[in-house]
Parts: sequence; structure tokens; C-alpha cells
Amino acid sequence: HHWNKMYKTAGLLYVLLAAVSANYEGYKVYSVKPANDTQIKMLGILENTEKLDFWSRLGYRSKTVDIMAAPTEQKELTAYLKNNNIQYEVLIDNVETVVQQEHIEQSLSSRIFRGKISFSKYNSHSDINGYLYQLALNYPKLVKLQDIGRSYEKRNMVVIQISLTPSANNPIIFIDAGIHAREWISIAQALYIIYELVENPANKDLLADVDWHILPVVNPDGYEYSQKTGNRLWRKTRSPQDTCVGTDGNRNFDHYWGLNGASSNPCASNYKGPKPFSEVETQNLRDYLLKIKNNAKLYLTFHSYGKYILFPWGYTSELPHDEFELRTLGKEVSDAIVKAGGPAYTVGTSTNVLYGAAGGSDDWVKGVAGIELAYTIELPGGGRIGFDLPGDAILDVVNQTFAGVVVYGKYVSVKY
Ligand code: ARG
Ligand code: ZN
Repeated sequence: HHWNKMYKTAGLLYVLLAAVSANYEGYKVYSVKPANDTQIKMLGILENTEKLDFWSRLGYRSKTVDIMAAPTEQKELTAYLKNNNIQYEVLIDNVETVVQQEHIEQSLSSRIFRGKISFSKYNSHSDINGYLYQLALNYPKLVKLQDIGRSYEKRNMVVIQISLTPSANNPIIFIDAGIHAREWISIAQALYIIYELVENPANKDLLADVDWHILPVVNPDGYEYSQKTGNRLWRKTRSPQDTCVGTDGNRNFDHYWGLNGASSNPCASNYKGPKPFSEVETQNLRDYLLKIKNNAKLYLTFHSYGKYILFPWGYTSELPHDEFELRTLGKEVSDAIVKAGGPAYTVGTSTNVLYGAAGGSDDWVKGVAGIELAYTIELPGGGRIGFDLPGDAILDVVNQTFAGVVVYGKYVSVKY
């Protein structure tokens, strides 16, 4: 009856959750395969529609794009695809079912803790900040917290600074995650890096002549919204705009802002915002980076999903002056992840290996703040919808990826 009880609890949870968060009932995901440039253009027209959500965006090559459509849009969408002779198939019949399964799975998952934070489920923003405070208390010599401001809904944005010798003026590696709300694994990744650096004495070497500054949740409002309120696939911030809510933080940075790959429609999931740095979260991040930019030598921003190690530029297909260095280091990182049992990553500039999109943090960091080594890491996907990597898969991913972070750390300590 132990099991019986567990299932009952799960069942009850299911009912409760279904009641508060039946947001994706009847939503379908279509995997669409454009065959030529005309078809890519025809699909591009759809990208600005509120009721459609492009889970992957259109690249230059003919690959598949996953589009989620609300029930009210499905007839029109499939008719449009058929009329334009674009191939597609139904990937997920009802997104809500998948979201609910993830909720259940999370509530039943065994608890794997490292230190005081779980790596078998996704932690809430307050648990995350709680962990950071705990670390500051337990490791007062090594850890300092920096409050960098509040989100739109007044959540504290906290950078953890990890430094063995604060007086040494060491080069800084800055890491962030969670600028996109639904990319939960990115936040787990940042937390795992924090855990390894602070709590695992075996990593002392990585602290010898490098300081690490980590902001695990750039977009806490969006993260909480995607976790609690039930809109699992929310991507943007939560600031109200003219017609809809939220701005894509990673289209909001001021380096060729809005030039391409970003929407002017406040209802689109890649809305660039009314102006560059319109969002308080991107302002806070910007101001912090400007403060540390002289010592900061490497910027890493974690996203999911896709297994890409990307570097600037996202606004142009032209290569940066130090493309060779960026690519070589990126490949070493990918190799290290493979050696640790992880997947191989595609390494290259955002525009050339993924798609053009201006206003990303990496472009601004390199182009304006002058931190030359800037990378966007798209972690592996999982689960059924890509963003829903199951709890019991978190630890492998973050642990394998940490092997790549070690390579970055060594590189910076040798070079600077
Ligand atoms: N998936 C990320 C996004 O869409 C990729 C960002 C790459 N960087 C860039 N500047 N476009 O935001
Ligand atoms: Zn992202």
C-alpha cells in the first residue's frame, strides 16, 4: 500500500495541476520540412504569429522546424502548408499531455542532491537563491554574493562571485543561464558549475588564477511563470507590452538590435522589445558586465536545446577577427564533453551554423563590452518536447558539460 499511496498522491497532484495549468490542451506540434528557399520564406511569414510558436527557428539550410499551434490555428496552418506544398508531420498530438507527464515525473523523481541543491528536479528561483545564500554562509572566504537588481516582478537577481584570492585581480569568467524561461536545464547547468567550483575540493585548481562570476537565472519571472503558472513553454520576460506580454531577452541587447531574426510584434516569442535594453533584466545584466568588463575574459551563456557551441556573430554571417581562436577553443570544449560521455556539439558562429538573430547577449558582450571570448551553449534536449529533459537525465548532462567548462577555465588561466 506504500505504492498505492504514492500513486494516489500522484493522481491527486495530476488533477490539481491539470486544473491550474491546462494551458496547452489540444495544442499540436508540427515538424515541418521546407524543401527550398521559397518554402523557407513562406514559413518565415508565419514566424510573427502569436498563436504559433517556433520551437526551432528557420536556418539557412533546409532542416525541419517544429511549430506549435493552438487548436484555433491548426486548420489554417495545415491548409497553408498544404497550399504551399510544404512537407510536415504531427510530432506531438497534445502538448498538454506531455506537460502533465513532466509534472508527475518531477513530483515522483528521487532526490539526488549535491550539497544543498537538487539535480534530479528543477529548482524554484527561491530555492536557487537560498542555495546561493547558503554557500555564502558556508564558504565566506570563497564566495561573495552581488545583488545586481530586481526583475520586473521584483525578484532578486543574484550573481555569485567565486574567488580564492580576491586581491589578485584575476581574470574573470562570467556565466549566465535562464535568459529564456523554458530552458530549465541551462539553469541546472549553472547551478552545477557553482556546486563543482565551490563545494568540490577537487576543483581547487580551477580557482587558482581565475575568478568565476555566475548569474544562474537571468529571467526569474519567466522561469517561475514556466514552472508554476503552468505556461511551460514560456520564453520571454513578463513585462507587459502594448498588445501582449514579454520580450525576448536574447533579442534585447544593443548591438545591431533588431537587424534580423527578431520580431517587432510584441506577441511573437522572439519579440525584440520596444527599444534596446527595454527590459530591467537585460539592463541589470548589462550594467554588471560593464562593471567587470576589464577583467572579464570569457562569457558563457547557457541555453537549450540543440547541442551547439555558438559564438558571434548572430547579426551577420561575417566572421569575427578571432574566429580561429573561438572555433578552436569551442572544438576543444566539445571534445572534452564527448570524452566525458556527452554528445558532440556543432561549433561555429550563430549565423552560420544556426540562424541569424540580432540582439543576443553574446554579440553585445563581444561587440560592445569588448569581452572577446563569448559563447552561447545550446545544451542537449530531452523528453518529448526538447525542453522537458527529465529529472533523472539532469545530472548526466550537467556533469558532462562541466568537463567542457573545465577546458574554458584552463584556457583562461593559461592565456591571461
Ligand atoms: N537559440 C539562441 C536564441 O535564439 C541562439 C542565440 C545565438 N546568439 C545570437 N546572437 N543569435 O536566442
Ligand atoms: Zn534560448
